[in-house]
Amino acid sequence: MTHPRRPVPGRSGVLARRTVVATVPFALAALLGAAAPASATTTGPSGVGDPYFPLAGNGGYHVAHYGLTLRYDPASRHLDGSAVLTARATRKLTRFDLDFKGLKVTALTVDHVKAAFRRDGQELVITPRKALRKGEEFRVAVTYAGTPQQVTDPDGSADGWITTDDGAFVAGEPQGAMTWFPADNHPKDKASYDFTITVPRGSGAVANGVLLGQRTAHGQTTYRWHQAEPMAAYLATATVGTFQVQQYRTSDGIQVYDAVDPREATAAAPVLKKLPSVLEWESKLFGPYPFRSAGSIVDHAPDVGYALETQGRPLYDSAPDLSTLVHENAHQWFGDSVSLTSWQDIWLNEGFATYTEWLYTEQHGGKTAQQKFDALYARKASDGLWAFPPGDPGSGADIFGTPVYARGAMTLHELRKAVGDTTFLRILRAWATDHRYGHGTTSQFVRLAEEKSGKNLDALFHAWLYSDGKPATS
Ligand code: TRP
Ligand code: ZN
Repeated sequence: MTHPRRPVPGRSGVLARRTVVATVPFALAALLGAAAPASATTTGPSGVGDPYFPLAGNGGYHVAHYGLTLRYDPASRHLDGSAVLTARATRKLTRFDLDFKGLKVTALTVDHVKAAFRRDGQELVITPRKALRKGEEFRVAVTYAGTPQQVTDPDGSADGWITTDDGAFVAGEPQGAMTWFPADNHPKDKASYDFTITVPRGSGAVANGVLLGQRTAHGQTTYRWHQAEPMAAYLATATVGTFQVQQYRTSDGIQVYDAVDPREATAAAPVLKKLPSVLEWESKLFGPYPFRSAGSIVDHAPDVGYALETQGRPLYDSAPDLSTLVHENAHQWFGDSVSLTSWQDIWLNEGFATYTEWLYTEQHGGKTAQQKFDALYARKASDGLWAFPPGDPGSGADIFGTPVYARGAMTLHELRKAVGDTTFLRILRAWATDHRYGHGTTSQFVRLAEEKSGKNLDALFHAWLYSDGKPATS
């Protein structure tokens, strides 16, 4: 994954960057879990305190469930939507935000009562008629319409509802979910989802989870999808297009749904056929596959330039190669089931998925992980691979940079060498098991690795994750 990144001049290390957060009092309060300033005790902060994406997510509540009802017309690019969020207040709330960009809001209620709202950039600021009590469960219903507009990420790539010639490629990492539904748009807050998507007959609409039903009437087809396991908003999809569909169950009882753009079908077929064996191999390494649904959405979206590990069913911009299929499905454990609490920790997703590719190749008669490591390590000190340390990309513009993927994977290889194969695999499996459906941080991973190995690994992780330049290897 090579994306244009801006250079990072005068990097000054992790501590200097952390102080940036201190200039954002609300963000800092959320980050430290500290009491918010008095003026903010009843208004939910506009972000969860992520230094890379300060407005992402919101404070003051958690969402348990999203019920999304969408109608999309590819010809006119018009979307009609309704989102019903079931949430719980974590403090008294006179006001709270959702993340929502573009699209016109036509009606909004909190607990079935009309609520006042205004738009402020990506924040949908909601003032319920009656303040919400701390601990209270509440329901927000938002009705909206318009033509969704993709967002441009800090690294220049597109994200969100991305229009294609026959529908839309819908991918939300890191921020695009807010282009098609109002959300608590940060991986810290995971929820279950139901999707009801109506498109013209002949079009497919593929979301996450299992297909509950599909019905055609009056020239429109409605697809109902259910995602039972907790999911971060960025992993939601509602991809629309012309698709060839295949459904089957694996021997483990996982429901597979493949949707393939006919233009990609010939190239995709031999790779998609391997999905059951890839999932079986990954399950042996990392523990049981976390979701009841699996599969692939292979779109024809030549301008996108990346694939995304949409939960339970990765989304590809074209027919994937086997390594990409292995990578996106490795994310089902690392990223989807075990989620980030901060985008700075993105190597926990990308380094792990990349290292899974290396392990797959090694165990299927190809290059060893050591050979992959050596080839990368041979790169000159001036190479982009060493431009910044993977545990501290420094800004949202670099979260998908080469160091995150490649040096992130090299970090795991160094760990493997330090603790031995058996302990290494035990650590990966414990990580996936202990944090299943939850969250994990880099320091928790380091602690786990030290516990399982009985070794002090601070120097190793410090060198590989947080130090500028090319680290020494053992
Ligand atoms: N997480 C994706 C992967 O590596 C990559 C990705 C998603 C991406 N969104 C992006 C890369 C935006 C660049 C820009 O599997
Ligand atoms: Zn990835």
